[in-house]
Amino acid sequence: MKVVVTGGTGFLGQRLVRALCERGTLTDSAGRERSIERIVAVDQGECIEPFADSRVTYALGDISDAAFVGAAVADDTDSLFHLAAVVSGAAERDFDLGMRVNLDGTRLLLEACRRGKPVPKVVFASSVAVFGQPLPAVVTDATTPTPQTSYGTQKLASELLVNDFSRKGFVDGRSVRLPTIVVRPGKPNAAASSFASGIIREPLAGEESICPVEPSTGVWMSSPGTAVAAFIHAHEVPKELWATVRSLNLPGITATVAEMIDALRAAAGDAVAGRVRFQIDEPIAAIVRSWPARFDTARATWMGFPQDADFASILRDYMKHYAPALLRK
Ligand SMILES: NC(=O)c1ccc[n+]([C@@H]2O[C@H](COP(=O)([O-])OP(=O)(O)OC[C@H]3O[C@@H](n4cnc5c(N)ncnc54)[C@H](O)[C@@H]3O)[C@@H](O)[C@H]2O)c1
Repeated sequence: MKVVVTGGTGFLGQRLVRALCERGTLTDSAGRERSIERIVAVDQGECIEPFADSRVTYALGDISDAAFVGAAVADDTDSLFHLAAVVSGAAERDFDLGMRVNLDGTRLLLEACRRGKPVPKVVFASSVAVFGQPLPAVVTDATTPTPQTSYGTQKLASELLVNDFSRKGFVDGRSVRLPTIVVRPGKPNAAASSFASGIIREPLAGEESICPVEPSTGVWMSSPGTAVAAFIHAHEVPKELWATVRSLNLPGITATVAEMIDALRAAAGDAVAGRVRFQIDEPIAAIVRSWPARFDTARATWMGFPQDADFASILRDYMKHYAPALLRK
């Protein structure tokens, strides 16, 4: 089978491509387990670390370009994992870019999938940014999304498209609303949630980290490994379980910024934790405040989605790979 991963060289897309290579099979929309013969990583540039697997090829271009999308998806795509996006802070700063990539790009991909036989499965990377104030203390599967950012609005509108294309039988779609994924290695990005990784990653690398939100700010989080496992699980769950509701809040864990820094102190010591400095950046703080921090994800648990144990385990997992020498026993 042919699998397309948009955003395939981004943070999560790259890990997803590698996980699919390792896994080797997926269930198609007709319910047959098939071996993955091709994975097309759609993005704007190649990975720094090559995939080193002959099944993976690149399709480099812009998902808001209909001709490019049509050629990348063609009529032989069995599964599409749609992760390419302009992230939250950037979509807020550049309204037109966010609409073009996050909304128009999603529609073009879904339209391109309509040519596939059997109908392609589509897994869409949505976000808890579809929720915004006013919110209950705990967001449940029944909470109405009321996004307060352009990014959240674009994600919600895309979810509705995935739902309607599925209802019409054009695709077999599933949208998963990701928590903030920590810890993201590398450089800070333009997401408003970038600080959640920065307050861990930079101190561990011996650098100061400026935190733009208050220590009491709660963050709903998940690890990259759990997010990738969730994409694959979303693909594999039979469509009968999704029924008419094709969007889902993924499981996660809640910690405040202060609790995250305490966990860093426990794992790596005072000197490392002392490298976080607070300097409130109101536009960022306002976006983050509009997001929910506590969820009851009963439906995802019932559907068997994976969950991290706690923030300490996410942190230790990151440190094992990126800062093993600093990890206290
Ligand atoms: N990482 C998180 O905390 C988080 C949380 C919630 C939702 N999500 C969603 O998960 C998905 C993956 O997130 P990520 O952290 O890997 O992001 P990322 O920024 O690392 O990856 C996104 C990729 O999309 C590509 N892209 C952007 N515009 C494009 C265009 N016009 N054409 C082709 N490719 C384009 C980028 O080059 C990038 O490689 C995104 O849809 C994001 O909105 C992520």
